[in-house]
Amino acid sequence: MPVLLAIESSCDDTSAAICKDGKILANITTSQAIHIEWGGVVPELASREHLKNIVFVVDAAIKHAKIHKNEIDGIAFTQGPGLIGALMVGVSFAKAIALVLDIPLISVNHMQAHVMANFIDAEPAFPHLCLTVSGGHTQIVLVESPNKMRVIGETIDDAAGEAFDKTAKILGLPYPGGPLVDKHAQQGNPLRFKFPEGKVEGLNFSFSGLKTAVLYFVRDHIVEEPDFVVNNMDDICASIQHTIIAVLMKKITMAAEMHGITTITLAGGVSANSGLRSALQQLGETKGWKVHIPAFQYCTDNAGMIGIAGYYKFLEKDFCDQTVEPIARLGI
Ligand code: KG4
Ligand code: ZN
Repeated sequence: MPVLLAIESSCDDTSAAICKDGKILANITTSQAIHIEWGGVVPELASREHLKNIVFVVDAAIKHAKIHKNEIDGIAFTQGPGLIGALMVGVSFAKAIALVLDIPLISVNHMQAHVMANFIDAEPAFPHLCLTVSGGHTQIVLVESPNKMRVIGETIDDAAGEAFDKTAKILGLPYPGGPLVDKHAQQGNPLRFKFPEGKVEGLNFSFSGLKTAVLYFVRDHIVEEPDFVVNNMDDICASIQHTIIAVLMKKITMAAEMHGITTITLAGGVSANSGLRSALQQLGETKGWKVHIPAFQYCTDNAGMIGIAGYYKFLEKDFCDQTVEPIARLGI
């Protein structure tokens, strides 16, 4: 029954979790509002905020889980990919605790952890496909076991989350725009405006054309109607979201057919999107797939997913030592 403390600090969320025998007892995340005024994450500010928040979230997770720090059997932490300064805070903190408590260190790949978030409340069958959609990545991952994953499709430019955030910025919505596009889209007509889906062969994605199309669309319309965006915000958001979801559904369908796989999971911050969640559920029903989607708190960056990924590595005794370092560009 290992008890793990898990730490996530790869971008702008400082998070700590307690994972006991594969169950998440606490998952405490503080988001960094400081980036809103800059319209995106400022790496140096992110590192400083992690430093301010990390003791608080670890303390809160231990209290919430009602455990004593001496019960902790291992420390799982995000090694990468992510912002190097931000990762450094979590890695250094994890190393220090491991040294003081004399317990093993478990390095976790952030993208694998997003995939593993699906194992917190369920047990998807192997092999399965995971559609990982976050602010920095868009991947179709062939998952053969908790420790064996292969990316079979990915974006050649912007990630799905970036497509949400960058188009939202063009519409004048604050960062991060994804959740706000989702909110407006719920009241809008997804078929009112047509945007290009981006044509890329095979299982790869491209979202940069959508961003440019929205930019020209807004520029052209405000010439005749200066308040066009505000007056049509719900329909514009619904149409943009509809386009992004349509691309994602086409590619996951293609991947499932190519590999003959019928278990599909969803992961990453964009999997919090209500339209995407219901689109994948509906597609799954039509296709006869078994679909798994993590609970909201495990979609965006969180330490719970680091804890569950760390748990499977703990079972394999896959530990690292004090020489471990953060890796900004860590592949799956
Ligand atoms: O996985 P994540 O928390 O951080 C990265 O590792 O990138 O993903 C953050 C991304 C942002 O682009 C954010 O706008 C997007 O997830 N996001 C959403 C929603 N909630 C978060 N996008 C669309 N709809 C949402 N409800
Ligand atoms: Zn992430």
